[in-house]
Amino acid sequence: MSDRTLIVGNWKMNLNTSEASVLLHRLEERIKAHQDIEVVLAPSTLVIQPLSLQIDRHKFRLAAQNAFFKDEGPFTGEVSFTQLRDLVHYVIIGHSERRLHFEESLGIVRDKVAASFRNDIIPILCVGETQSERRAGETRQVLHDQVTSALSNLTANEVEDMVIAYEPVWAISTFGGILAKPDEVKKEMDFIRHQVRELYGAKAAKRVRVLYGGSVDDQIVGGYLEIDGCDGVLVGAASLNYHKFAGIVDRAYHINRQPKEKPNEPDEK
Ligand code: PGA
Repeated sequence: MSDRTLIVGNWKMNLNTSEASVLLHRLEERIKAHQDIEVVLAPSTLVIQPLSLQIDRHKFRLAAQNAFFKDEGPFTGEVSFTQLRDLVHYVIIGHSERRLHFEESLGIVRDKVAASFRNDIIPILCVGETQSERRAGETRQVLHDQVTSALSNLTANEVEDMVIAYEPVWAISTFGGILAKPDEVKKEMDFIRHQVRELYGAKAAKRVRVLYGGSVDDQIVGGYLEIDGCDGVLVGAASLNYHKFAGIVDRAYHINRQPKEKPNEPDEK
């Protein structure tokens, strides 16, 4: 587990350049820089370049919401990791909206994770089951397949650096927004870490950052951040509201100051 809590705001396909600039301005006024909290903003691709000029790098890092796995070439309408490499720290890969609306397969997600590392950008890999998969008892199979395929052909060092967000599709606000119980979330996060351990060993399993995402706002974020093994949250709708998003960062700050029980971590190899 990382000692820095990661809070990622996914603005999705919202805000034009001036609206994004205003939101960033409000967030910069409201959010203080904390050493133990890393705040990442993922605006639409169009807005990344202007925000990169405006952003206070002591407070925020930028993420892209997607990129194409080829570095350059005849791929009309796409933007590559190579084009983004000087602008963003992270790229969100395999978000359920991309898997479901744009039919991103396991193979495409795997190629995007590889392209991300090839271009020195840290991937935030999203995994999670749909409501029907959950009802059919297939959650573990889905998580196994998504994690195993996305992580194939990486080095243990790369896996240690990456971020995996557990986002049950049924809990995402735009897909149903059913609140997931923190104890259920913990079981699946543990399972994800277990998968990483099977593939890359105890050190990678300990160091990979695992986030939760799904209808997280300033009121309920504490329940997830307090999960042993949760390194932060991926926030959609609430990240468009600067009160709520700043409230999430405040909550993380206070939780980090509470005395912690010693976590149950896997032994290092
Ligand atoms: P939500 O979105 O917070 O609006 O549920 C999360 C996500 O899609 O990453």
